Amino acid sequence: MDLLIKNICCIGAGYVGGPTMAVIADKCPEIKVNVVDINKERIESWNSFDLDRLPVYEPGLDKIIERCRGRNLNFSNNIAHTIASADMIFISVNTPTKKKGLGAGQASDLKWVEASARQVAKYAKGHTIVVEKSTLPVKTAKVIQNILKTSKQNSNKNEPTFEVLSNPEFLAEGTAIKDLELPDRVLIGGENKHAIDALSSIYEKWVPKQKILHTNIWSSEMAKLTANAFLAQRISSINSISALCEKTGAEVKEVAHAIGTDSRIGKKFLSAGPGFGGSCFKKDILNLVYLYKYYGLDEAADYWSGVLKINNWQKKRIANYVIDKLNGTVSDKKITILGFSFKANTNDTRESPSIDICLDLLEEGAILSIHDPKVDENQIRLEFEERNFKNDTKWTFNSKIDENFQDSHAVIILTEWDQYSDLDWFKIEKLMLKPAWVFDTRMILNLDTIKKSNINFWRLGKIINENKLTPN
Ligand code: UDX
Ligand code: UDX
Repeated sequence: MDLLIKNICCIGAGYVGGPTMAVIADKCPEIKVNVVDINKERIESWNSFDLDRLPVYEPGLDKIIERCRGRNLNFSNNIAHTIASADMIFISVNTPTKKKGLGAGQASDLKWVEASARQVAKYAKGHTIVVEKSTLPVKTAKVIQNILKTSKQNSNKNEPTFEVLSNPEFLAEGTAIKDLELPDRVLIGGENKHAIDALSSIYEKWVPKQKILHTNIWSSEMAKLTANAFLAQRISSINSISALCEKTGAEVKEVAHAIGTDSRIGKKFLSAGPGFGGSCFKKDILNLVYLYKYYGLDEAADYWSGVLKINNWQKKRIANYVIDKLNGTVSDKKITILGFSFKANTNDTRESPSIDICLDLLEEGAILSIHDPKVDENQIRLEFEERNFKNDTKWTFNSKIDENFQDSHAVIILTEWDQYSDLDWFKIEKLMLKPAWVFDTRMILNLDTIKKSNINFWRLGKIINENKLTPN
C-alpha cells in the first residue's frame, strides 16, 4: 500500500520549520502545507503583506513565500484543526538546553517536543506519520512513540494510528533555501517502509533518489548530532591554530588553504573566526556530552567538551587582545562593533560570538556603537538582558553604518557581512580618534586599502600592522 501524502502540518514556524515548509510547498504544489505555531505574532509576521517583515530573513525565501502563500502554504495558530486534517506532521519546535533540573546546562529541554506529541495524540485522525525535524537527543523518537501509543490505548473509537520517523534538517542559516533545494543528502530514519516511502516520495520531487538515505531511527538521530559536532570541531580546531599562527608568523588563512587542498580534509569549514555561534552547535555538543556522561563514558565527554572550551577561549582572547592593544584599558572608549548576527545573511543572534565579545568589552567600561544590517536594536537588548546586562547607556545601535565611526577608538568586525569588506577606510579614518584600530576577526578586510590608510589593523590568525600610532 502506497501512502499518498496530501496534507502536511508543521508544528513550529521558526528558522527551520518556516523555510523547510516553504520549499516543500514550492516543490509539491499538489500538497497542502500548513504551518502552525503557538506564537501569534510570529504567525502574523509570516502572513504579513510586507515581505520585509517575515520573521526569518533568508535569501530567496521571500520569493517562495510570495509564490506559495495562500496557494498551498498557510500559516496559522489553528493547531487542533491543522493536526486533525494532516496525514503527515513535522515537529519543528525548539529544543534549547535545559536551564534547570536534571541535566541542566547540558541536556536538551524536550518539553515542547513532548507538548507537540501530546497535541498530535489528542487531535490526529486516521493514520498519521509523525516526523521529527528538530535536532533531538538520541532516543527521543521513543519518547514520542510512547506518548502516541499511550494515548491510543486510552481512546476507544476511531483510533488514530501513528508511525514516527526521524528526518533531521541540515540547513544552515543564510543558505537555507539553497541547502533545501540542493541538499547534499536527505536523511530518513525509521522502521516502517510505507512511512519511509511516503516521506521519500515528497523529497523525490526535487532531490535525486540516490541522495535520500534511509537508516534506522537511532542512526538518523545520532547522525544529526554527529554532523554538527564534527562541523563545530573543525572550527575549534582551526581557531586553536589561529592563535598559534599569531605567535609564530604563520597565517591561518594560508594554513587553512594548504590543508584544505588535501581531499581527505576538504576545504569547507576551515575559516578561523571569533568562535562559532548559532542555535545548534553548542546545544548539540552539550547534548552529546550529557549522553556520554549518562552512559559513564567520561573520557569521550571530556573530548567533546574541549570543542566548547576552545570556542569560549577564542571569544575571550579576542576581547582581551582588543583591550591589550588599546593600552590595556577600554574604559569610556568608544568602540564600533560591525556585525551582531552569528554569521552573515541571517538576522539570527542566538549564541552569536558578538554577544560575549561585546559583553566582555562593556564589562571593562567600553562604550559600544553597534551596527548590523539585519539585526535590530531590540534584539540586541534582549540578548544583553538575557545575560543580565541591563545598562542601556553604555551602547547604542545605529543602522546607518557611517554614523557609527565618529570619535571611535577601534572598529571590530565580528560578522562577515559583504558590505564590511568594502568600506572606505580613508573616509572612516578621518572620523576616528587616533591612534585608530581595526580588528578583523573574520579576515575580510581589503588589505590593500587598509594598509594605505592611517589605521592600525589586526587580522585574526596573523597580520598585525601597528605603526600608525599618532595620537590626535
Ligand atoms: C529549532 C531548534 O533550535 C533546532 O535545534 C531544531 O533542529 C529545530 O528547532 P528553530 O526553527 O531555529 O530550530 O527554532 P525557533 O526559531 O525557536 O522556532 C521554533 C518555533 O516553535 C517557535 O516559533 C515556537 O513558538 C514554536 N513552538 C514551540 C510551538 O509552536 N509549539 C510549542 O509547543 C513550542
Ligand atoms: C549549522 C549546520 O551547518 C547545519 O547543517 C545544521 O542544520 C544547523 O547548524 P548554522 O548554525 O545555521 O548551521 O550555520 P553554520 O554555517 O554551520 O555556522 C555556524 C557557526 O560557525 C557560525 O557562527 C559561523 O560563523 C561559524 N563558522 C562556520 C566559522 O567560524 N567558520 C567556518 O568555517 C564555518
